[in-house]
Amino acid sequence: MPTERIHNFNAGPAVLPLSVVHEVAAALPNLHNTGIGLLECSHRSKVFQEVVDNAVARVRRVLSVPEDYTILFLQGGASLQFYMTALNLLRPGEAADYLVTGTWAQKAIKEAKRIGDAKALWDGAANQFRDLPGDGDYKVRDEAVYLHYTSNNTIYGTEYHRTPDAQGHHLIADLSSDIAGVPVNIAAHDLVYAGAQKNLGPSGLTLVILSPWALARTAPGTPAMLDYQVHAKDGSLYNTPNAFGIYVLERMLNFMEQNGGLQGAIDRNRAKSELLYSELDRSGFWRPHAVREARSWMNVTWRLPTPELEESFLKAAKAAGMEGLKGHRSVGGIRASLYNALELSSVQALVAFMQDFEKRSG
Ligand SMILES: Cc1ncc(COP(=O)(O)O)c(C=O)c1O
Repeated sequence: MPTERIHNFNAGPAVLPLSVVHEVAAALPNLHNTGIGLLECSHRSKVFQEVVDNAVARVRRVLSVPEDYTILFLQGGASLQFYMTALNLLRPGEAADYLVTGTWAQKAIKEAKRIGDAKALWDGAANQFRDLPGDGDYKVRDEAVYLHYTSNNTIYGTEYHRTPDAQGHHLIADLSSDIAGVPVNIAAHDLVYAGAQKNLGPSGLTLVILSPWALARTAPGTPAMLDYQVHAKDGSLYNTPNAFGIYVLERMLNFMEQNGGLQGAIDRNRAKSELLYSELDRSGFWRPHAVREARSWMNVTWRLPTPELEESFLKAAKAAGMEGLKGHRSVGGIRASLYNALELSSVQALVAFMQDFEKRSG
């Protein structure tokens, strides 16, 4: 068994700060000196209610969530939100517009089509999702209830570095793979959702943030587990929540608050991604996938001259203590995920490895 932690570039579940992992480990047998372990404690207990309250307060502080917005911890992953957003916000037949910038956006629009008239205003498939739309590249339909976008395309390695123009419509975002890692204006959105397993903690927990408008939209007769109002009324405790996940998220946000808050994470993430992109731009040996303006700080994707070289790159990287660099199975190549908990030293090690690999193979 390895005694040291290796460089973990996984796309999610992903690396967590070691101090958070230790805090979670300490809570397993005994949560906050109650004599009851984290996994054994009632979600209706006072001690767990404090965890939920702290988690909500930290989300609000770290992400500057407006006071009148509702913060929910749900299950079913971001994938359930593809359907749940449309189910709650659209009436049958109503229109909603989507910017289709990758696999997750394709899945989101597919689910929305089950409910209403969901239309792709822009689709990057023909260009292998290397790029993102500019604000002038689409026109939101007058009748569209909302515009939906994916802030960071985990698989292709593209990311908006501004809030897309909703042209006066309600704005909905899947923030799964860059939440709490890059600047975000929650107040410009009516609903955002994110699976926790990249920057916020473990899988199986989804953060959903709703404006008063979004919360009020739910249609009567919506099944309880899919109804935002039901979850909001019970403070995310309508049914048994992912208690473990909420605890880890609370500790992750505590870690962030102790390390410069969102701005601290932004500064560290900018430095990490600039280091890796400067290596990718240094030599024609590396072939970055995303166009420059759309490059993601969170997931950096590139190819090598041949699939054989990519395979030997991955094999040698693994032998050098670097995991999770294989591109998503749908696109191949290399992907390095640089989420909040990944240390700059891991990117430095990767860049040194790349330079050595190029010398040996170039
Ligand atoms: C941007 C984005 N949206 C949605 C998902 C799906 O999330 P989940 O597996 O939590 O349903 C992912 C998963 O990686 C993602 O990266």
